[in-house]
Amino acid sequence: MSEIVKTPFELFDRQPPLPTMSSEILTGLGEEQKRIPPKYFYDAAGSKLFDAITELPEYYPTRTEVGILERRSADFRALIDAESVVEYGSGSSMKVRILLESVRPAAYVPVDISKEHLVGAARSIQVDFPDLAVYPTCDDYTKPFQLPQPVAGLSQIAFFPGSSIGNFAPSEADVFLANVARVVGPGGWFMIGADLKKDPRVLHSAYNDSSGVTAAFNKNVLRHINQALDSDFDLDAYAHEAVYNEIDGRIEMYLTATSDQVVSIAGETVRIRESERLHTENSHKYSVDEFRAKVEGGGFEIVETWTDERAYFLVLLARAR
Ligand code: AVI
Repeated sequence: MSEIVKTPFELFDRQPPLPTMSSEILTGLGEEQKRIPPKYFYDAAGSKLFDAITELPEYYPTRTEVGILERRSADFRALIDAESVVEYGSGSSMKVRILLESVRPAAYVPVDISKEHLVGAARSIQVDFPDLAVYPTCDDYTKPFQLPQPVAGLSQIAFFPGSSIGNFAPSEADVFLANVARVVGPGGWFMIGADLKKDPRVLHSAYNDSSGVTAAFNKNVLRHINQALDSDFDLDAYAHEAVYNEIDGRIEMYLTATSDQVVSIAGETVRIRESERLHTENSHKYSVDEFRAKVEGGGFEIVETWTDERAYFLVLLARAR
């Protein structure tokens, strides 16, 4: 049966070009502590692996956040009036369904760097919300970001669930929050999820799951780089490592070389010593007060905060000043 499309669907393709990727990868691998920006986890395979992480028994953030969103959906309907929902890092566009059902906007702008995954998820939103205009936007939302023209004049709510804010360095998070405030404009809404500080053992097992999905997700970044930049990382020569740094309040993820490696990337040679760690991700955890202060510092007024009964996760609603 063919689907009848009643409302607009238009892809805004601003996927960063490969030269940007190769220079970001080579810059990171040229530093004293070698690093790979975590946004490169998310090719089509990485996005699927991340979806599998969200189903793991040890990975509590997704189901905890969804529980909060479901329980509070009536509050969202009463509080929020916005014509357009802009979702940063929309992935599979699952959690936003709760917001779309309660806020009932005219337009939805999912923004994600992983084009194939973005378009597939946006199509399924279009099928399930036939009156909603859908404008998938393939872009790097970690950089200043322009709304697609059809929604530019509408009132906005920016939605940033999943605690992806925790994957930014604190100073990058401040810049990101200020950019969101600019995108939604004065009085514009912002709903964001943040993972809270808790027993380090709970954090450790969430990032070192027994079935090895997080390890596969971590290593997939090397496969993605090999495929995109024609490099020759040997995936079997790296081990997944995730540790909680209590001082900085963050999980740190690494790929640790199990032997000396010489890798060729975009015409350059990178040498990695045995036991040397490639830093692939930080995942910052906050207290409720730390997070409120952070969002306020980005140019917002807090409207409401909600947590679960174990106080594992926080959903915060704010308005731009
Ligand atoms: C996307 N982000 C919020 C996840 C996190 O928990 O920091 C990424 C992730 N890395 C390993 N597991 C999940």
